[in-house]
Amino acid sequence: MSRNSTPDIQFDTDGQLRHLLTIDGLNAETIIEILDTAESFISIGQRHIRKVPLLHGRTVVNLFFEPSTRTRTTFEIAAKRLSADVINLNASRMSTSKGESVLDTVRTLEAMHTDMFVVRDGSSGTAHLIARHVPAHVHIINAGDGRHAHPTQAMLDMFTIRQHKGAFDQLRFAIVGDILHSRVARSQIHALNILGAREVRVIGPQTLLPTEIERLGVTAFTNMDDGLSDIDVIMMLRLQLERMEGQLIPSSQEYFRLYGLTSERVARAAPDAVVMHPGPMNRGLEIASSVADGERSLILPQVTNGIAVRMSIMAKLMGPQPQNLEPEP
Ligand code: CP
Repeated sequence: MSRNSTPDIQFDTDGQLRHLLTIDGLNAETIIEILDTAESFISIGQRHIRKVPLLHGRTVVNLFFEPSTRTRTTFEIAAKRLSADVINLNASRMSTSKGESVLDTVRTLEAMHTDMFVVRDGSSGTAHLIARHVPAHVHIINAGDGRHAHPTQAMLDMFTIRQHKGAFDQLRFAIVGDILHSRVARSQIHALNILGAREVRVIGPQTLLPTEIERLGVTAFTNMDDGLSDIDVIMMLRLQLERMEGQLIPSSQEYFRLYGLTSERVARAAPDAVVMHPGPMNRGLEIASSVADGERSLILPQVTNGIAVRMSIMAKLMGPQPQNLEPEP
């Protein structure tokens, strides 16, 4: 099993995935297993009773120190569909706002027999820090840490690509926008390379491209029209204004003129190219509404697929392996 730069902390001593903290360090087999299991969970969302007893009696705490709509809600729905008990905590409700450390908060919740923490934080490394301090039976999922990683977003993106476009080795990908501040981009790049993508490009202004980004196995473009040529999957990113220090873009209008995804720009990609965005979107800043709401857009399917993919990840970490998919009596 390839571990690359990922600390072995993601794995048990017997090589089983115990936490999901980053995509790098996973191998293609593990990612494909998660995507395949997610396929089997899709149908649960289409039933009248959308629940299976796989994680009955387990307790999941969503520990969100940063705002979230999609990730927090789909994790909650996913855990409930697996019959886990779910507690949602956010920064304004937690004793960290009174000075308690994150680790003391986690230890307190562990004392209430929590089996899994889903953690989002504005600082890179928080999920890793917690994973290093929890006992062996507790699992951690990184739901986004600073600029570092958002592995479950990348997994649901890979699921959506496979569902709509098929084999990764036949496809060219462009990740467009604020690469510098994007945890999503880093996780997507790792996932696409592990799954054997034909080509991965990143497109953005020089100020929003990390130095040496090409060392991650991508080709960098500063001209969007050139970068989109022959692309099969356009993966837009949110311009993360809240993380920017100093003037990194000239103006909103100028940014949209140079890097906004319009129908004219989509026409420069492959004829059947699809458009993705992890959300939340800044309409009129990085993407035109006509594209976001257009027939090539997979943005809402990404959200829906997030439930099945997160169910699959929780089941893999906390299993038993999915065999009983019947509704609860
Ligand atoms: N894609 C994503 O992480 O969105 P939220 O911030 O709404 O969870």
